[in-house]
Amino acid sequence: MIKKADVLLGLQWGDEGKGKIVDVLTPQYDIIGRFQGGPNAGHTLEFNGIKHVLHTIPSGIFHEKSINIIGNGVVIDPVIFQREIAALTNLGVDVSKRLLLSKRAHLILPTHRLIDAASEAAKGKGKIGSTLKGIGPTYMDKTGRNGLRVGDISMPDFKEKYYALVEKHAEILKHYHFKYQLDELEPAWMEGIEVLKTIQHIESEHYMNQALLGGKSVLAEGAQGSMLDIDFGSYPFVTSSSTICAGACTGLGIAPNRIGEVLGIFKAYCTRVGSGPFPTELSDATGELIRKTGNEFGSTTGRPRRCGWLDLPALKFAVTINGVTQLLMMKADVLSIFQTLQICTHYKYDGKVIDYLPYDISPEHLEPVYRNIQGWNKDLTGLTQAGQLPDALNRYIEFIENEVHVPITIVSVGPDRTQTIIRNNVLA
Ligand code: GDP
Ligand code: IMO
Ligand code: MG
Repeated sequence: MIKKADVLLGLQWGDEGKGKIVDVLTPQYDIIGRFQGGPNAGHTLEFNGIKHVLHTIPSGIFHEKSINIIGNGVVIDPVIFQREIAALTNLGVDVSKRLLLSKRAHLILPTHRLIDAASEAAKGKGKIGSTLKGIGPTYMDKTGRNGLRVGDISMPDFKEKYYALVEKHAEILKHYHFKYQLDELEPAWMEGIEVLKTIQHIESEHYMNQALLGGKSVLAEGAQGSMLDIDFGSYPFVTSSSTICAGACTGLGIAPNRIGEVLGIFKAYCTRVGSGPFPTELSDATGELIRKTGNEFGSTTGRPRRCGWLDLPALKFAVTINGVTQLLMMKADVLSIFQTLQICTHYKYDGKVIDYLPYDISPEHLEPVYRNIQGWNKDLTGLTQAGQLPDALNRYIEFIENEVHVPITIVSVGPDRTQTIIRNNVLA
């Protein structure tokens, strides 16, 4: 029977817990495919006392039986990729048998990272708060039709193409008056290219569609989150790729009618790292308490994450844009510290109460309207069954389900693989 690919993606500003859930769900899938983003992502997995952060490699890599594909929509920094491979090899993971790379995926050059840094420095206070991994400049070269791809590595003129692109970048860097030492960065990059050569390069769209035709199951793994999407995020404070469900189609070559379940992940509250508007942000002791309890520091950059209450209009927006069929709520355990919770149900937009996400979500125009909800105030981290969830948490869950009209099928109560409660396994 022809299978459809399921998609798992973040519904907020990233770091919802995608890595953990992909790892938990991988035993149910033959293939895991990353479809966009690059090493700006940091996906954390915890099991058997090991904590591991992946940046480019899909989060199914620890499972022996699953194939992991880096799709055409991903951008790869060979230096970071090499480091990821080394860390996995150290843990005894043999990537050579389970990792495949799209020939169409674009390469991040050292000069892309330099342009990212120069552009952010030039923006001053208006900076995006980029992870400085060269993501924006690499996607600019992709859409500008200048980019280098994985498939170019095995072409005889690869070095020529590389130096031609570096020359273009040198011109751009001149405009920024940005000082840099490229020769210090190039040897590691070239070494990374040699490591990339050791991984099998494939026509991933062909592989993926053949697999679906042959009845194999596929889970597409998103990076970042819908509120960081290039079209629908809080532009310009966004990333440079399509983080939404449609990105799985373009980033893996899966047709829209071949998409099955859309699994939307959200935290029981909200976080954001980097600049840009964040309607429910708590710039007070409560926000600080969530950050401390939830250990809300960036997996890639270590920066403190901004924290706030759950934002329902933003969640509904993300659910709609992605066609989410199941919701997965993460970090419920972190909210156990509160007697009473708040949840944003509406916004006051230029004085008028609305229940949708408008074009402009800057604090000058938009103010969240909250509803108080009783907290559960109980440790959840040891729970394993849906029947053990406290009543107040069930009410919180049901309130969200009623507002968003999508079932919450998984509730996560801690960072470990085992701290995952299946409420209703629609996938089984
Ligand atoms: P991703 O980018 O979506 O994969 O998420 P990150 O790995 O960047 O951030 C999520 C963080 O929360 C990681 O440190 C996870 O280990 C941790 N985490 C995931 N789920 C839970 C949970 O249910 N409870 C707690 N306390 N931590 C969690
Ligand atoms: P995962 O996959 C959280 C944010 C950056 C910045 C903006 C643009 O771990 O959820 P970029 O480097 O893409 O030019 O940065 O997007 N950002 C993320 N925030 N999680 C991520 O990935 C992110 N990737 C990028 O902080 O605000
Ligand atoms: Mg992350």
